Amino acid sequence: DAVDNAPAIVVGSGYGAAVAALRLGQAGIRTLVLEMGRLWNTPGSDGKVFCSTSAPDQRSMWFRTRTEAPLASFLWLDVVNRDIGRYPGVLDRVHFADMSVFVGRGVGGGSLVNGGMAVTPLRSYFAEQFPTVDAAEMYGTYFPRARAMLGVNNVDPAWFEASDWYRFTRVSRKHAQNAGLRTTFVPSVYDFGYMQREAAGTAAKSALAGEVIYGNNQGKRSLDKTYLSSALGTGNVTIHTLEKVRAISRAADGTYVLTADRIDATGNVVETKEYGCTYLFLGGGSLGTSELLVRARETGTLPALDARVGAGWGTNGNVMLGRANHLWDTVGANQSTMPVMGIDDWANTANPVFAEIAPLPTGLEHWVSLYLAITKNPQRAAFTYDRASGTVKLGWSAAQSAVSVGMAKKLFDRINAANATMYRYDLFGGSNKVFADDFTYHPLGGCVLGQATDDHGRVKGYPRLYVTDGSLVPGSIGVNPFVTITALAERTMARVLAEDTAP
Ligand code: FDA
Repeated sequence: DAVDNAPAIVVGSGYGAAVAALRLGQAGIRTLVLEMGRLWNTPGSDGKVFCSTSAPDQRSMWFRTRTEAPLASFLWLDVVNRDIGRYPGVLDRVHFADMSVFVGRGVGGGSLVNGGMAVTPLRSYFAEQFPTVDAAEMYGTYFPRARAMLGVNNVDPAWFEASDWYRFTRVSRKHAQNAGLRTTFVPSVYDFGYMQREAAGTAAKSALAGEVIYGNNQGKRSLDKTYLSSALGTGNVTIHTLEKVRAISRAADGTYVLTADRIDATGNVVETKEYGCTYLFLGGGSLGTSELLVRARETGTLPALDARVGAGWGTNGNVMLGRANHLWDTVGANQSTMPVMGIDDWANTANPVFAEIAPLPTGLEHWVSLYLAITKNPQRAAFTYDRASGTVKLGWSAAQSAVSVGMAKKLFDRINAANATMYRYDLFGGSNKVFADDFTYHPLGGCVLGQATDDHGRVKGYPRLYVTDGSLVPGSIGVNPFVTITALAERTMARVLAEDTAP
C-alpha cells in the first residue's frame, strides 16, 4: 500500500522542481518534495556548511573516496584532487562511456554548486530551439519572473574595472578585443553587494575565498534561499531528503506510485518507501528525469511513454580550455569564483560560440586564462535502457565532443594569433590535453518539450504527469541554462494550475 500520500509529489529540488513546489504550495495544494541529496544547513566541525575547494573533505562529492574536480592537474601534477570519505557530498560527477556530467546533490540541486551565471538566451536562438513556444510571452512574462524570483543582479561596472578580484577577466577581455571580438557582462545570482563587502574585508569571504563547486557558505542566492524557502513558507510543502526515487508506475485509478530508497550518510538503503499521488512533477534534472522515464517505459511500468523519451540530449556544446599568457600579462593571485563576462561570438553564423571567462583561483599568479566555451554543437544523443544491468546508458560519443572542440578551437586560435599566445597543456590530465571535452556542466534534453511532452511539459500518454527541468531543453540553449529552465517551469506551472488542477 502506498504511504505518505500527497496530492502532488515533486521529484528533485533543483530549478524546475523548486518552481513547481512553490507554485503548487501557493495554489494550496499539499506537496511532497523527494530529494536524494541532503539539506545543506548544518555546519561541520570547522563551523562551515560547505568545505573549501582547496582542502575538500567528505562534504565535497557524492559518495567518492577521491575528489574528481573538473581541472584535474596543474603543471601536469595531480595537485587538485584529494582523498575523501564516502558521504552524500554536494557535487556529483556521473560517468557515461564517453561523457561525464557534473550535477549538484542536495536541497537546491545545481544551484548549490554552480557558478551563479544567470543568463537569458538570445531571443532568436530561443525561438529556434523552441519553435512552438510563444517567445513574446516568455520574454515579456516568464523570463522576467524567473530573474526576479532568482534574485539576479549585475556587477557594478566601476567596481569591476577597479577590482583586483576581476583582473583575470579584464585581461581576457583585452585579449578578445585584440582579436576583434565582442565581450558582454553576464548577470549573476551571487549578491555583488556582499562580494564588495568581502573585498573590503567587512564580510566573511566566499566567492573571494575560492568557494564554488563544493558550495558557497555565503553570498550566493541558491534555491534553498529563494524558491524553496518561499515554498516551505506556504505551509503546504514538505521536503524529504536522502530519498532517491527509483521507479514510477500508475495505479488502476490513474494515480501515480513512486518507489523511493531512503539512504543514510554511508549510502546504505535503510528503508524502501512507496508514495502515491495524483499529480507528479519530475524535476530530477536532465539525467535524473530521463533515467526515471526511460526505465519506466522499458520495464513496462509506464509503457505508453513516447518513443522520444530519452532522446534529444546534448552538452550545450561545453568545452573548457586554458591559455598561457605572457609574463607581463598577470591575471592576479586574487580571483573571484563568480564569472561576470563572456566573449560573445554567437552572431558569427560560421562558428557560433559564447565563451565564459572563468576563474582559476589558486591564490598565486599562474598566467592562465581559463574559459568555459558554449558552442553551437548540433550533435544529440539518446539514453537507452540496458536490461542486463538494469541501468540507463547515454549514447554520446567522443566524436560528438570533437565537434564542440573544433568550434572552440576556431575561436581561441583567433585569440591566440592576435595576442601571440598559446594554449595550456597541463590542466586536464597527463596527455597534454588542451580541450576538456569529456565533461559537461550543462546536461540538457532527454524529455524534450513538444516531443516527449506537449508544449507545456505534460508527458505524452500520461495525464497529470509533468516534466519541469533541464530535460525539456533540446540539447543546447547557447548560454548557461538555469534561467531558461526556471522560466520554462514558471510557464508550465502557470498553465497547469490554470487548466489541470481545477476541482
Ligand atoms: P538540477 O540538476 O538542478 O536538480 C535536480 C535535483 O534532483 C538534484 O538535487 C538531484 O539530486 C535530484 N534528483 C535527481 N534524480 C533524483 C531521484 N531519482 N530521486 C530524488 N532526487 C533526484 N548553469 C547556469 O545557468 N549558470 C552557471 O553559472 C552554471 N554553472 C554550473 C557549474 C557547475 C559546477 C554545474 C554542475 C552546473 C552549472 N550550471 C550552471 C548548470 C545548472 O546548475 C543546471 O543547468 C541546473 O541546475 C539544472 O536544473 P534542473 O532543474 O534541470 O536540475
